Amino acid sequence: KFGASPTDELIDDIRRDLDIGLIAPAVFSDPDLYQAELRRIFTRTWVFLGHESEIPNRGDFVQRNIGEDPFIVIRDDNGDVRVLLNACRHRGATVCRVQAGNARMFVCPYHGWTYTNSGELSGVPVRNLGYAKLKLSDWGLYAAPNVAVYSGLIFANLDKDAPSFEEYVGDYAWYLDINFHLSEGGMEVLGEPHRWLVDANWKQGAENFCGDSAHTQMTHRSALQIGVADLSSAGAPKPDAGVHVHDISGHAVSIRRRPGEKPFFSYPPEVKRHFRPGALNEQQFALAEESLLHNGTLFPNFSFLHIGLSEESGKEEAGFLTVRLWMPKGPRQTEIVSWILAPKEASEEYKRRAYRIGMSSFSPSGNFEQDDVSVWPGGARTGGSIFAAMNHMRYNYQMGLGDMSPLPPKEIWDGPGIADSSNAGEGGLRSFHKTWLKWMKGSGRNVADPSN
Ligand code: FES
Ligand code: FE
Repeated sequence: KFGASPTDELIDDIRRDLDIGLIAPAVFSDPDLYQAELRRIFTRTWVFLGHESEIPNRGDFVQRNIGEDPFIVIRDDNGDVRVLLNACRHRGATVCRVQAGNARMFVCPYHGWTYTNSGELSGVPVRNLGYAKLKLSDWGLYAAPNVAVYSGLIFANLDKDAPSFEEYVGDYAWYLDINFHLSEGGMEVLGEPHRWLVDANWKQGAENFCGDSAHTQMTHRSALQIGVADLSSAGAPKPDAGVHVHDISGHAVSIRRRPGEKPFFSYPPEVKRHFRPGALNEQQFALAEESLLHNGTLFPNFSFLHIGLSEESGKEEAGFLTVRLWMPKGPRQTEIVSWILAPKEASEEYKRRAYRIGMSSFSPSGNFEQDDVSVWPGGARTGGSIFAAMNHMRYNYQMGLGDMSPLPPKEIWDGPGIADSSNAGEGGLRSFHKTWLKWMKGSGRNVADPSN
């Protein structure tokens, strides 16, 4: 489907490297690879865009990108969520000029072509004189052919022949459900999303959330030292406390738990009492009960972290969920969009606290966030180093690979996917890059099928 190009040769080299747990810095910085990602990954995978709570009313919209293409994510007059390319069909001008709002119509600022909030062209100035034969129905805004809403999360796919969202998520739904359906009401978004720019490649955040447990002790040491997080088992190879589950229909999750106890993501009893199996089966519920944290990435650029932290040292941790979108803005820049969520049934007072904790940890003003975004830029910048290239530099993703580790992966564990039996592994990250390769080779349509 894609003619062989220098990029394809590079991708073949990347595949050979990954087999032995190595990754070329170019993966995080090369402009040609990045262009190929925009075409091969972002036009065909299910891409996260936002949360329904941002657009509760008819006409409400927000702007988000798929790859670098600008889209208006809008609830139209029929109540349906539409994802419309923000480009006038007349001469390409940007039709919608604000990041969020409410609109019945969009009037293009160039020559006044007017579109309804479902994207149809409804009027053209001097139509009777100049465009008597123009068929309005042929000239609507381009719309993503596939839109899916899962637990309020809005995803779109630009490939009209794409597999359904359910098929794409596959077994990973087992883990998403644990995090989004603990209580009957599910998770509620608190406030508006935060957005900020980072000088890093979009895959650096995405791969990190697949299970980079080893960075916690180092990057976030100061946060651990002041006592806002009790992750005492972080980074230590305790076989049952931490697992990295990967190759889950192409996606990955990292889990830390206290077997035999019921920390339930550190939610206090007043919140925990609302948790019941409901949408979960017994096995899922049992895992939720003993869980301290889950973080994961649904390929390509949707990540979440469910954790208990504290807003100040000495105060008990409280659970919250953060959801994020890693929007590519060039090979070495990413716009992060991030939401804070809490169980719907929790009290207003609890939600305010959960929001404060989220703000003080995983937001542009958060301690954990600042730690991460201070180290990621190096991974992208080193891709431009000539001396590194002269030395054929490869990044090391070998932790826990093959004979590097005395602890073999559990081929089968209680849930779907393959679990590394300790935190001393990078299997989740390797799994992310394996999925990346499948799409970059143009053969990743059904990521659940390894023979594909
Ligand atoms: Fe939009 Fe001309 S470019 S009306
Ligand atoms: Fe981190």
